[in-house]
Amino acid sequence: MSNLSLPLGAKGSGRARYAAAMDMYQQGLINPAALEVYRIASARDGQDPAPMLAEIGMNPVMTPATAADHITRLIDEADAYIATLPGPGVAEVRAGMTPWRGGALQVTPQANRVVDQHLAAALAPLRATHLALAQAIDAAAPHLTWITYDRYPLDEIGADFAQGHAYASLIGEAGNMLARDYDLGIFLIAPHVLYRDHHHAAPELYAPLTGPHGWRFGPATPLITKPAHHPVWNEAHRPHMTKVGPTPFLALFGWIRDVTQAAQVIPAPDWPALEALRLDPLA
Ligand SMILES: [Fe+2]
Repeated sequence: MSNLSLPLGAKGSGRARYAAAMDMYQQGLINPAALEVYRIASARDGQDPAPMLAEIGMNPVMTPATAADHITRLIDEADAYIATLPGPGVAEVRAGMTPWRGGALQVTPQANRVVDQHLAAALAPLRATHLALAQAIDAAAPHLTWITYDRYPLDEIGADFAQGHAYASLIGEAGNMLARDYDLGIFLIAPHVLYRDHHHAAPELYAPLTGPHGWRFGPATPLITKPAHHPVWNEAHRPHMTKVGPTPFLALFGWIRDVTQAAQVIPAPDWPALEALRLDPLA
């Protein structure tokens, strides 16, 4: 948040209040009319915005957003984004989150090296096309419980993926918002990593926010390149593999059932070539 400690009349306090109001507006926490009040008041450090805010029925107290506010905002933005997508699985993922929305929020921040190294590069292109979603991810990221999954046998999944990914559950059995047999979260993989062929019981929607990335749906099937914002729906046990391009892979994911059944790697002979592959950034 911007500096709200300057008292009424302090030099620069009007502009500081306006900057704070702009932050809140961008997070969806105040409406355009309230922002306009702070804009008008910004030129006069001694002008209290409270009377003008009262005229439009708003409380003048600017409360900085909490971690829970940021996470709730991200869940709202994620749902709004998924709602825009075509194809199978979208309705199921949205319906699956409904029973859990509005529940108490657990905030247990857990930092992650992959997030520290790669999230900014993933958000840069997203800001250009989906600013509110990018801002919601950026604001919530420090408060999420980031995990680098370690239940795959290392010799099967490979060191690149084992060390090069992180995810955070927003709504799930270990999510910020508790759910049973459902998972909605955010997933980040470092550039050029191969997430080897695997399958799992949970039917799964991927909503990639960056691109391009390579996909295939079974060893010995061709690699397909997809740009950002082209969702992938994997029915139960459908094999899938993801080859990350030069931009980190950032995606929302939804698992609609059977979320506690572990995924299994499917061996394929061409992993070394796919791991060495570099996708064209313009593909
Ligand atoms: Fe999967």
